[in-house]
Amino acid sequence: MENKVKNAGTARLEVAGRTVDLPVYSGTHGPNVIDIRKLYAETDHFTLDPGFTSTGSCESQITFIDGDEGILLHRGYPIEQLAEKSNYLELCYLLLNGELPSKTQFDTFSNEVRNHTLLHTQQDKFFEGFRRDSHPMAMLTGAVGGMAAFYPGAMGNEDPEERRISSIRLISKMPTIAARCMKYNLGQRFVDPQNKLSYSENFLNMCFSVTAEDYEINPILARAMDRFFMLHADHEQNASTSTVRLVASSGAHPFAAIAAGVASLWGPSHGGANEAALRQLREIGSLDKVPEFVKMAKDKSSGIRLMGFGHRVYKNYDPRAKVMQKTCYEVLDALDLHDHPLLKVAMELERIALQDEYFIEKKLYPNVDFYSGIILEAMGFPTKMFTVLFAVARTVGWIAQLSEMLEDPTQKIGRPRQIYTGAAMRDYAPITHR
Ligand code: ACO
Repeated sequence: MENKVKNAGTARLEVAGRTVDLPVYSGTHGPNVIDIRKLYAETDHFTLDPGFTSTGSCESQITFIDGDEGILLHRGYPIEQLAEKSNYLELCYLLLNGELPSKTQFDTFSNEVRNHTLLHTQQDKFFEGFRRDSHPMAMLTGAVGGMAAFYPGAMGNEDPEERRISSIRLISKMPTIAARCMKYNLGQRFVDPQNKLSYSENFLNMCFSVTAEDYEINPILARAMDRFFMLHADHEQNASTSTVRLVASSGAHPFAAIAAGVASLWGPSHGGANEAALRQLREIGSLDKVPEFVKMAKDKSSGIRLMGFGHRVYKNYDPRAKVMQKTCYEVLDALDLHDHPLLKVAMELERIALQDEYFIEKKLYPNVDFYSGIILEAMGFPTKMFTVLFAVARTVGWIAQLSEMLEDPTQKIGRPRQIYTGAAMRDYAPITHR
């Protein structure tokens, strides 16, 4: 990756009687950054920023978010335009290569993705080691990490072609692994990929078809699945992506790094929020309980948060949530489920929260997970599968970010520092003297 930051002056810092001038850089969009790489060497001080609320970890040319304005761009293209006019595989190509593909490039890319959908038969045996009721995210983490054993040379720094094929393999095989996690939970036979189908159709077929009868893929549901994948494809340096970058920065096997990303995504503050949001809607259950629930969400001692609300970066409506809401109506229409009780609860929750002083003041708006759970539930996915679907979609983002990092000449192993407040140095006392 060619580094493209521009010089934008210096910031002067006075610390312990010394003055240092730190370089300031500007990017294409977004706030300028202060480069503190030399700070420790020049001042003998570290910075402290738990949760990285003011810290950039890398230069990136893939995705840009303006959280105040509610803008999300992939390689410069607004997510709303991509969601309406493009498709998931085209977006994958864009994220990985930086530009939209020509017709020939797109055909070649989709054919390649189709050609790598099968799993090694030994990989199918992994699943038998799990309990039937295992959380599919646990199975997914194990199965993706295990792929490192099948492709030992994958994506190493040295061979760009090996890295490219590994990217394709991951994008191709994630739906197959995810569908197997679902089938294993259900106690049903695994369904192999059908390469004549589109990416999303193939995934629905692997999840929902059974050998006993024909399964007809509803084109509206296939489009909704594709849109779900697009809306979750990448989101700059979030927890799971930063995890992938950090793990891979040590030179670890990239499939192991992606498995770590899956693990990070699982948490309810991140990708696990779609599962938690739907469980919460079920718990609320009816419209009359909504005001009481909102009251509890405002009371810290209740330990309850409105799942699917709030975001570290968006202090405005998450642009993905708007598209998700529209897709939600399309799916419920297609399935004749306009009166879906959970949708009614969700709409009331959103209405009350958006006019409540607490949520307005803290800039807490619905995020992408607020409506996605209703769509996935209506499509027939078990709640436990929701975060797995997010992981399938985010795989391309993880890979694009990982590849970018490996090509960045300034890349180093990630190694944060700390402020130590433990015991001061002391002498060991033998057990008889304690
Ligand atoms: N419900 C009620 N109060 C909330 C919520 C919420 N969903 N989210 C934040 N707050 C409050 C906090 O209590 C805090 O209040 P305070 O300032 O009085 O202490 C304030 O808003 C700021 O919250 P933080 O947790 O400091 O904000 P942070 O940026 O660290 O967290 C997060 C963002 C984790 C997304 C948070 O909003 C949250 O927990 N939301 C619910 C879970 C969720 O939907 N996660 C999905 C995120 S999107 C994604 O990963 C795809």
